[in-house]
Amino acid sequence: SHPLTFLGIESSCDDTAAAVVRAAERAEILSSVVDGQAALHAPFGGVVPEIAARAHAERLDLCVERALQEAGLGLGDLDGIAVTAGPGLIGGVLSGVMLAKGLAAGTGLPLVGVNHLAGHALTPRLTDALAFPYLMLLVSGGHCQFLIARGAEAFSRLGGSIDDAPGEAFDKTAKLLGLPQPGGPSVEAEAATGDPRRFAFPRPMLDRPGCDMSFSGLKTALLRARDGIVAEKGGITRQDRADLCAGFQAAVVDVLAEKTRRALAIYAEEQAPVPALAVAGGVAANGPIRAALTRVAEEAGVRFLAPPLRLCTDNAAMIAWAGIERFRAGGRDGMDLQARPRWPL
Ligand code: KG4
Ligand code: ZN
Repeated sequence: SHPLTFLGIESSCDDTAAAVVRAAERAEILSSVVDGQAALHAPFGGVVPEIAARAHAERLDLCVERALQEAGLGLGDLDGIAVTAGPGLIGGVLSGVMLAKGLAAGTGLPLVGVNHLAGHALTPRLTDALAFPYLMLLVSGGHCQFLIARGAEAFSRLGGSIDDAPGEAFDKTAKLLGLPQPGGPSVEAEAATGDPRRFAFPRPMLDRPGCDMSFSGLKTALLRARDGIVAEKGGITRQDRADLCAGFQAAVVDVLAEKTRRALAIYAEEQAPVPALAVAGGVAANGPIRAALTRVAEEAGVRFLAPPLRLCTDNAAMIAWAGIERFRAGGRDGMDLQARPRWPL
């Protein structure tokens, strides 16, 4: 089909990002700029919405300029502008949508609002030209769900977390143990030298059918285990901390692996063999989680895809790509495009 070059804009959480993607026979990422805000939020142990909104407002236009520059293109070379219109922190989403509207109005280019979750869920089509349909596990700091991706705007939800997302659980664990944010990478690093069997953390909801999950109880269990050590010995050692991280991570791995087995089984009732399992979201960066999912897919004889890490975490290339997919399917928006804090797929 006719080649399309889109600018993508992402500002729904704590990464200010812009990217240029060209799609012809294959998709090509011409540039992908991600200006992370981790350092701004680190002192508070979590993302502060007001700080995020201000940082997006200050940095977005520079990000766009850099993305165009790195792609070696001007606005006149584009075929459209894609922007995350939700779900996310409303201040940031508004900044992105306003900028995209301004650019679209100024250039006359088509404007395409993108669901952030669709951006994650469509990433394996950007990286591996994966055909619809496929099963998607979306695991990030704010989201945790199994989706069947049937088309650019057609997703069925099979289940997901009924409370915290796994990334949030990693971040809270890091906070409780005095480890740096974001918690995922620091807990994973600590866990590498820990004994996962020393603490028996719960595997919530494995006794229930279906592929819904719960991760908020893990945090309580971790807090209790930590306080138990402190009460006994007056403090926690480096090894205690590593063992706590290893025990926590092993529980998350077990729950995600078992629920993925079930999601594959549920999908197989509709379509066997299941065409493919793909994973996306920041938590997909976790080594043991990736390894466990790889094994589960292998056991089930299902092709497994995990995009490269920089495309698993928040970025604007996935938004530009999801915009191209929506545009090809006839989707576009007018100046009435709304920023939506909540927007289920
Ligand atoms: O997809 P993402 O960049 O942002 C959204 O939440 O949409 O995901 C960020 C989350 C954070 O909670 C972070 O702690 C987690 O992904 N994360 C990890 C790892 N790297 C990032 N969790 C576990 N292990 C990791 N290596
Ligand atoms: Zn995300």
